[in-house]
Parts: sequence; structure tokens; C-alpha cells
Amino acid sequence: MQILTRFMMAAAVVLGAWSAPASAADAIRLPALGASQAASVDAAVVSKQHLAEDAKCTRCHDENEAKPILSIFQTPHGVTADPRTPTCQSCHGPSLAHLAGPVNGKIAPPDVRFNNDGGYKESGADKRATACLACHSGTQRTHWEGSAHQANGLACSDCHVIHSPVDKVRQRATQPAVCYTCHKDRRADMMKVSHHPVAEGKMACSDCHNPHGSVAPHLMKKDSVNATCWTCHADKRGPFLWEHQPVTEDCTNCHNPHGSNVAPLLKSRPPFLCQECHDGPHASGTAFGPGIAGAQVPGTGYVGVPNTSGNGAGRACLNCHVMVHGSNNPAGAFLHR
Ligand code: HEC
Ligand code: HEC
Ligand code: HEC
Ligand code: HEC
Ligand code: HEC
Ligand code: HEC
Ligand code: HEC
Ligand code: HEC
Ligand code: HEC
Ligand code: HEC
Repeated sequence: MQILTRFMMAAAVVLGAWSAPASAADAIRLPALGASQAASVDAAVVSKQHLAEDAKCTRCHDENEAKPILSIFQTPHGVTADPRTPTCQSCHGPSLAHLAGPVNGKIAPPDVRFNNDGGYKESGADKRATACLACHSGTQRTHWEGSAHQANGLACSDCHVIHSPVDKVRQRATQPAVCYTCHKDRRADMMKVSHHPVAEGKMACSDCHNPHGSVAPHLMKKDSVNATCWTCHADKRGPFLWEHQPVTEDCTNCHNPHGSNVAPLLKSRPPFLCQECHDGPHASGTAFGPGIAGAQVPGTGYVGVPNTSGNGAGRACLNCHVMVHGSNNPAGAFLHR
């Protein structure tokens, strides 16, 4: 840390009006530099300082490395003229024993290791995540602690790559593949007849989920499942004069958000979908259901009456109850108009 602090002090001096951060780790949490301030920064000096810090490591880890290391300079972490940019040691730790080089032909491991390559065991998830959170604890990751991913031993580097110019998890089209490495059943869902256009690259998992944590269950991006759905399906939000209780409760009472073979994304086919909750006798006395006249619909309390409308018996309930999400018609109490 000593080395780092010294670097940050130097940067702070160059910045003048910019107050020195308590530690290097605080740097990114400072507001972005305003244009005028930025102009007063001698970018070349900052950049030179930065590269001098990195040289402690890059004198050994250079372009000859089996995996690309220096390509970090083509990523947002490679803007050496920005004083908030991490040096090698910001993430991998000061690693003083490692820096001392080989002793009796063996070199001590760096302090923070993000994978099991190179013969060293990766550091624990906490240590790996802390290295990033030092700078990235901001808004989106407020709920990382205690989230399903944190609690199950994931760290940032399980999704993000740092030394590659392309971070697949942040690109809409390539993100799902990263998630599928662990969530295989979601891939199968997304291939079903009815699905959100994720495979088509028009939507990503992160349109509904915040993988960094959330106040809502299931890592929902908004405060609830419904609030998340409403961001795109605003017409289903209401308020309706006549609400349908399961709709206001949770869209997933009827829909499988990832995919279904019953369009549109339905958990099961009406009338069965409806009958999961409405299993009493139908009071209207009108034709409904796929039943045979006078006979009980199997597994239900309904007495079947042939569907006179002829509009596909399987969707019979919807033939009459068209406003299944809610109705604003003064006479729509039964969601049929
Ligand atoms: C004296 C040369 C030397 C210096 C300086 C050095 N390293 Fe290493 N580093 C090595 C060697 C040798 C290994 C052993 C594994 C290998 O062959 O890559 C290694 C391994 C590593 C590994 C694990 C490699 C892997 O494939 O997983 C990381 C991470 C690492 N160093 C980071 C750093 C960082 C960060 C710095 C600066 C703080 C640094 N090194 C400075 C020589 C050096
Ligand atoms: C010393 C501070 C620091 C550390 C430590 C750090 N970062 Fe960053 N990170 C930054 C800065 C600065 C940027 C550029 C932000 C910008 O341009 O607004 C950045 C950018 C990013 C971005 C791209 C954001 C974007 O909008 O393009 C990702 C993803 C990221 N960091 C992930 C990580 C991960 C994962 C780790 C740990 C392995 C980590 N960072 C460690 C400072 C840091
Ligand atoms: C389960 C996978 C996953 C994990 C684990 C993960 N991220 Fe992310 N991260 C993403 C995805 C997906 C995005 C893109 C989000 C979007 O486009 O809305 C992202 C975006 C980001 C960004 C850029 C956007 C922003 O929020 O500023 C940063 C920085 C970042 N992550 C840092 C981290 C840090 C730090 C950690 C560890 C505490 C972490 N991530 C853990 C998947 C992950
Ligand atoms: C923002 C955090 C961050 C910074 C800065 C950073 N690294 Fe890394 N480093 C990682 C992560 C995470 C990995 C795991 C592989 C990946 O994500 O690309 C890694 C992997 C490595 C490896 C092992 C390569 C492998 O995949 O087996 C070496 C060696 C290494 N870093 C050296 C360096 C050197 C040298 C610097 C400075 C030029 C540096 N790192 C800067 C986070 C960082
Ligand atoms: C349209 C919004 C939406 C999209 C897009 C979406 N999800 Fe979900 N996801 C949800 C909702 C809502 C739930 C909770 C209800 C449920 O499980 O049906 C959920 C639950 C989950 C769960 C936990 C389910 C369980 O059974 O424990 C995982 C894992 C998951 N999603 C992964 C993904 C992945 C991976 C992607 C991208 C391929 C993705 N989701 C895309 C809305 C979405
Ligand atoms: C390295 C493995 C791994 C990756 C990659 C990963 N996850 Fe997860 N995810 C898990 C584990 C482990 C859990 C907790 C156990 C479970 O619910 O399956 C989890 C849980 C979840 C949950 C359910 C949370 C809950 O409380 O019900 C959602 C949603 C989720 N992940 C979404 C994503 C998304 C979106 C991505 C890609 C951006 C992703 N995951 C990438 C391992 C991973
Ligand atoms: C980021 C925007 C977005 C979010 C968030 C979102 N959707 Fe969608 N939804 C879409 C798009 C785009 C389509 C496809 C429309 C099309 O193909 O014409 C769609 C289609 C649908 C369909 C019709 C599918 C079909 O086969 O016609 C249903 C049902 C649906 N979404 C339910 C939900 C539910 C439930 C949620 C919340 C868990 C949700 N959506 C969240 C964008 C979103
Ligand atoms: C009681 C079961 C049920 C609930 C709960 C429900 N839906 Fe639906 N939804 C349906 C049915 C049935 C259809 C098919 C309607 C049709 O074919 O006429 C449908 C169709 C849709 C469609 C595609 C057609 C259209 O009207 O745009 C979208 C989008 C949709 N629902 C979104 C939502 C959202 C968002 C929620 C939560 C606010 C939700 N649904 C809650 C039963 C439900
Ligand atoms: C998850 C359970 C659930 C599902 C599935 C469901 N409903 Fe409902 N439905 C309810 C509840 C609860 C009410 C409110 C009952 C009350 O207020 O007495 C309701 C009310 C209604 C009403 C208005 C009745 C009244 O007395 O106000 C109609 C009509 C209706 N549902 C039709 C349907 C149709 C058609 C479907 C299938 C597309 C369906 N429901 C699916 C739970 C469900
Ligand atoms: C031919 C049109 C029609 C069909 C088909 C139909 N309904 Fe109805 N339903 C009505 C009418 C009209 C009412 C208003 C009640 C009345 O007039 O007594 C009603 C009332 C209801 C109610 C309010 C409580 C009650 O029993 O009066 C529920 C719940 C309901 N229907 C559910 C369903 C379900 C579930 C299906 C499919 C299995 C279905 N309906 C099929 C016309 C229909």
C-alpha cells in the first residue's frame, strides 16, 4: 500500500485543487473531474507516474506472457492519464514478497490471485471481490453483500475479465453465454417457442436482473418483479378500475419470464392456467371450457357446456374474459370488457 499511497499523493499534487483521497481505493468514488479541472491536470505526468508503478510488474509480465496481460491498457482500466485508474497493485495487492523475485528458484505468489493458472491457488472470493469493491462499491453494487451471488462464493472476476479488451458480460449479445455457464436451464428456457428476445440479442439478462444484488427477490433489477416488468410493459401497470389480483401481485403467477412453449410465455394453457385458482363452479351459466354438455370437466368443479363461440376451446376463458390484466370499463368487473 505504501507504494500506492505515494503514487496517489503525487497524483494529488499534480491535480492541485483536487483533495488527496484517504487511500488509493477511494479514488473512483470521487466525483468525476469537471472539464475545467481535467484540463488543468497534466495528463502526461499522471500517465508517466502510472506507468512507472506498473513497470514494477511489467518488467517481468510483458508481451511474452502466455495470456495477454498488457492488453489491459486497451480497457477502461488502462487510461493511465486518469488518476483514478488502478495500477497492477490496486487489484493484485502490493505483493512485496512476489516483487522480490525468485528465492532459491521459487517465487512467492502475488497477494491477490484471480484464478488457478500459473500454479498458484486463487484467492478466496472475499479477497478477490474486495479488491474491486475498494473502488466499485457505488450504487449498482450496494446490495452485493448478502446477494445470491456473493453468498454462493462468486467474485467479480467470475463474470468480468480484466485483461481482455472485450468483457463479454457487459455486451448485450454475449452476456447470456456467460450466465449460461452456470445457469444451463435458462438457456433451454430461452430457446422455447415463446421467449423474450434474448437469443436474438435484443435483450439481456441484465434488463431484468441486477447480478450485483438487489432489494427484491431473484436479483430483480427494480424493487419487485412487477416493477421490473412495468419498465417495458407499462400498459400492464394500471391502475385499473377492476384489477385482477394475481396480476397486481406478481406477473409470474401466470407467466414464465424466461420462456415457455405456451405463448405468450404462459405457465400453462388456459383454461388450466385459470383453473389453478378458479376451481369453483362458474356462476355465469354461460358456455365455457372444453367440456361436454352436462358433464363435469375432469378435475374441476365445472359443468361443461360446449363453447358456442367456437374460438378454440382451449382458450375458452379468454374468449369472454378478454381483459385478464385488468379492466377500466365501468361494466368490466368480470374482466370481460
Ligand atoms: C521478478 C519478476 C516478476 C515480477 C517483478 C512480478 N512477477 Fe508476477 N510472476 C512472476 C513469475 C516467475 C510468476 C510465476 C508464474 C508464471 O510463470 O507466470 C508470476 C506469477 C504471477 C501471477 C500468477 C500468474 C498466473 O498465471 O496466474 C500473477 C497474478 C502475477 N505474477 C502478478 C504480478 C504482479 C501484480 C506484479 C507486480 C506487483 C508481479 N507479478 C511482479 C514473476 C514476476
Ligand atoms: C483503483 C480503483 C479501481 C479498482 C481497484 C478497480 N477498478 Fe474497475 N474501474 C476503475 C476506473 C477508474 C474505471 C473507469 C471508469 C470510468 O471510465 O468512468 C473502471 C472501470 C471498470 C469497468 C467498466 C465500467 C464501464 O462503465 O465501462 C468494469 C466492468 C470494472 N471497472 C470492473 C472492475 C473489477 C471487476 C475490478 C476488480 C477485479 C475492478 N474494476 C477494480 C477503477 C478501479
Ligand atoms: C454474475 C455476474 C456478475 C458478477 C459476479 C459481477 N458482475 Fe459486474 N456486471 C455484470 C453485468 C451483466 C454487467 C452489465 C450490467 C448492465 O449492462 O446493466 C456488469 C456491469 C458492471 C460494471 C459497469 C457498470 C456499472 O455498474 O458501473 C461494473 C463497474 C461492474 N460490473 C463491477 C463489478 C464488481 C466490482 C463486481 C464484484 C463485486 C461485479 N461487477 C460482479 C455481471 C456481473
Ligand atoms: C482491475 C484489476 C486488475 C488490474 C489493474 C490488473 N489485474 Fe491482473 N488480473 C486481474 C484479474 C481479474 C485477473 C484474472 C484474469 C482476467 O480477468 O483477465 C488477472 C490476471 C492476471 C495475471 C494472470 C493471467 C492469467 O489469466 O492467468 C497476471 C500475470 C496479471 N493479472 C498481472 C497483472 C499486471 C502485470 C498488471 C498491471 C499491468 C495487472 N495484472 C493489473 C485483475 C487486475
Ligand atoms: C423478462 C425478465 C427476465 C429476463 C430477461 C431474465 N430473467 Fe431471470 N428471472 C426473472 C424473474 C421474474 C424471475 C423470478 C421468477 C421465476 O423464477 O420465474 C427470474 C429468476 C431467475 C433465476 C432464479 C430462478 C430459480 O429458479 O431459482 C435465475 C437463475 C435467472 N432468472 C437467470 C436468468 C438468466 C441467466 C437470464 C438471461 C439468459 C435471465 N434470467 C433473464 C425475469 C427475467
Ligand atoms: C460462476 C457461476 C455463475 C455465473 C457465471 C452466474 N451465476 Fe447466477 N447464480 C449462481 C449461483 C451459485 C447462484 C445461487 C444458487 C442458485 O440460485 O442457483 C446464482 C443465483 C442467481 C439468481 C437467483 C437469485 C435468487 O435469489 O433467486 C439469478 C437471478 C442469477 N443467478 C442470475 C445470473 C445472471 C443474470 C448471470 C449473468 C449475468 C449469472 N447469474 C451468472 C452462479 C452463477
Ligand atoms: C427490457 C424490456 C422488457 C422487460 C423488462 C420485460 N419485457 Fe416482456 N417483452 C419485451 C419485449 C421486447 C418483448 C417482445 C415483443 C415482441 O416480440 O413483439 C416482450 C414480450 C413479452 C410477452 C409476450 C411474449 C410473446 O410470446 O408474445 C410477455 C407475456 C412478457 N413480455 C412478459 C413480461 C414479464 C412478465 C416481465 C417481467 C418479469 C417482462 N415481460 C419484462 C420486453 C421486456
Ligand atoms: C392471471 C394470469 C396473468 C397474470 C398474473 C399476468 N398475465 Fe399477462 N397474460 C395472461 C394471458 C392469459 C395472456 C394472453 C392474452 C391473450 O392471448 O389474449 C397474457 C398476455 C400478456 C402479454 C402479451 C399480450 C399483451 O397483452 O401485450 C404481455 C406483454 C403480458 N401478458 C404481460 C404481463 C405483465 C407485465 C404482467 C404483470 C404485471 C402479467 N402479464 C400478468 C395472463 C396473465
Ligand atoms: C394465481 C391465481 C389466479 C389465476 C391463475 C387466475 N386468477 Fe382470476 N382471480 C384470482 C383472484 C384471487 C381473484 C379475485 C377474486 C375475488 O376478488 O374474489 C380473481 C378474479 C377473477 C375474475 C373476476 C371475478 C370477480 O369476482 O371479481 C375473473 C373474471 C377472473 N379472475 C378470471 C380469470 C381468468 C380468465 C384466468 C386465466 C387467464 C384467471 N382468472 C387466472 C386468482 C387467479
Ligand atoms: C362464454 C363466456 C364465458 C366463458 C367462456 C367463461 N366465462 Fe367466466 N364469466 C362470464 C360472465 C359473463 C361472468 C359474469 C358472472 C355472471 O354473469 O354471473 C363470468 C364470471 C366469472 C368469474 C366470477 C365468479 C363467478 O363464478 O361468477 C370467474 C372467476 C370466471 N368467470 C372465471 C372463468 C374461467 C376460469 C373460465 C374458463 C374456465 C371462464 N370464466 C369462462 C363469461 C364466461
